[in-house]
Amino acid sequence: MLDTKVEGATVVDGTGAPGFRADVGIRGETIAAVGNLSREPAGTTLRAAGLTLAPGFIDMHSHSDWRLWANRRAESKIRQGVTTEVVGNCGFSPAPVNPSSREDLRGFALYLPEGMDFSWRSVEEYLKRFDAGGCALNVIQLVGHGTLRVAAMGFARRKPADAELAHMQRLVAESLEGGAWGLSTGLIYAPGSYAETDEIVQLARVAGHHRGLYASHIRGEGANLLNAISEAIRIGREGEVPVQVSHLKAAGRPHWGKVKDALALIDAARAEGLDVTADVYPYTASSTTLRTLLPGWALEGGTWAMLERLHDPATRGKIRDEIEKGRQGEEDHVANAGWDGILIAYAPNCPEAEGRRLSEFARGRGVAPAEAAMDLILLSDGKASMILFQLDEADLRTALGHPRVMIGSDGSALATHGELGKGKPHPRSYGTFPRVLARYCRDEGLLSTEKAVHKMTGLPAKKLGLKDRGVIRAGAKADLVGFNEKTVSDLATYENPHRYAAGIEYVFVNGRLVIKGGEHTGSLPGRVLTPP
Ligand code: CU
Ligand code: ZN
Repeated sequence: MLDTKVEGATVVDGTGAPGFRADVGIRGETIAAVGNLSREPAGTTLRAAGLTLAPGFIDMHSHSDWRLWANRRAESKIRQGVTTEVVGNCGFSPAPVNPSSREDLRGFALYLPEGMDFSWRSVEEYLKRFDAGGCALNVIQLVGHGTLRVAAMGFARRKPADAELAHMQRLVAESLEGGAWGLSTGLIYAPGSYAETDEIVQLARVAGHHRGLYASHIRGEGANLLNAISEAIRIGREGEVPVQVSHLKAAGRPHWGKVKDALALIDAARAEGLDVTADVYPYTASSTTLRTLLPGWALEGGTWAMLERLHDPATRGKIRDEIEKGRQGEEDHVANAGWDGILIAYAPNCPEAEGRRLSEFARGRGVAPAEAAMDLILLSDGKASMILFQLDEADLRTALGHPRVMIGSDGSALATHGELGKGKPHPRSYGTFPRVLARYCRDEGLLSTEKAVHKMTGLPAKKLGLKDRGVIRAGAKADLVGFNEKTVSDLATYENPHRYAAGIEYVFVNGRLVIKGGEHTGSLPGRVLTPP
């Protein structure tokens, strides 16, 4: 006897193989059978003719570790069909914590919901605490290099001393033994940006030794893109660790077209025998914190030191000059997007700025854009963020079409109500997966549904070493999404981001229904996944 039978859907199994008509039977949290199950009795039968049934989507690049604390139902993600999120990306995870730098971490975090109090020390302790609250979807945690650096040496802008490096190495080992699946870096964000390549090699090697992966927001995505890809590959080679290049893009009009060169470097590394892959989100705007507009030295010492510098007229003037004259050698967001290309997403304590172009907001205040940006950073204690219109559609299509590129939202689990429904965040948090299926599969025919689903399921599962998910077959975990290929669509826009996707009819996590007929059941069957 089956617990649940999904009848008559087109099964797209996640391997990239052609879809086929079949019934799928679930017992407990496992797929019990795939095939003609018309004679099998089941507790519940869902008639799914006309729907496509795929493995639950794996969001290879997410920042939900913060917001899931206040969004256990994982609204904007589960409603896209996402059943597993890889969090702790871009160098920043909520653990490990060194009590002596706890306040630094608190100042650095963009969003601090109830429960996010940094009272834990290790990743293991953190994950136990998170898991106890339940979650609609599964979570795979990475440990962030920035977080490790804060624990070992605060926001110091220098090389680590031998003892500090050894401390970070111990923390990587402890974190991977305690449930982290790999190490992430954010090499444009302080304090991660203060690290030289060799430091990362030393840490990534420990992650590789524990069979983890290395995921990187690389050191530059504009003028520096190809050097930065080469650095990530070098870290993989010298650290003997699989590499994931996060949110592949070429930022800024002069650099458009370079995604194919970046992919050529990745292909060459693979030909050499290295395991290098990438992920992408299906939008031509990116999003990050406003404080990344500041030169690296302005963030030395942490958030409070940065705010003090912005309060001091002489230092502030120097920062403004540097922003305006451009930032050679560092990621230069202003050069890449231009002030008109920057949209204010979140502006805590200045909500009237949200949804407006930075240039227009500055004009309204009668100040230069760099001044307005610094004002917003100050008003928000460094927590304001922006959307940057700086990417090329052709590059995006190149990335989506590459066989080693998977899908990652770079977004968070949000919700249309309450605190999580505020601001004008990037629509990727609501629309990434349906947008690939709607726009790039159905409407433009860039990818077959089978290929797109593979990029959302089997491909990331293989990269992660997740053996029993990402595929529909008997014995695999019953993470499933049933969607309507004709109606699936992302409804979130830059103007109106807080809108759930359409056409996602059923989502199962660990055998239990979380989305039924497009509605959330309130069920929380997800869990923190343990590395193999
Ligand atoms: Cu990220
Ligand atoms: Zn990033």
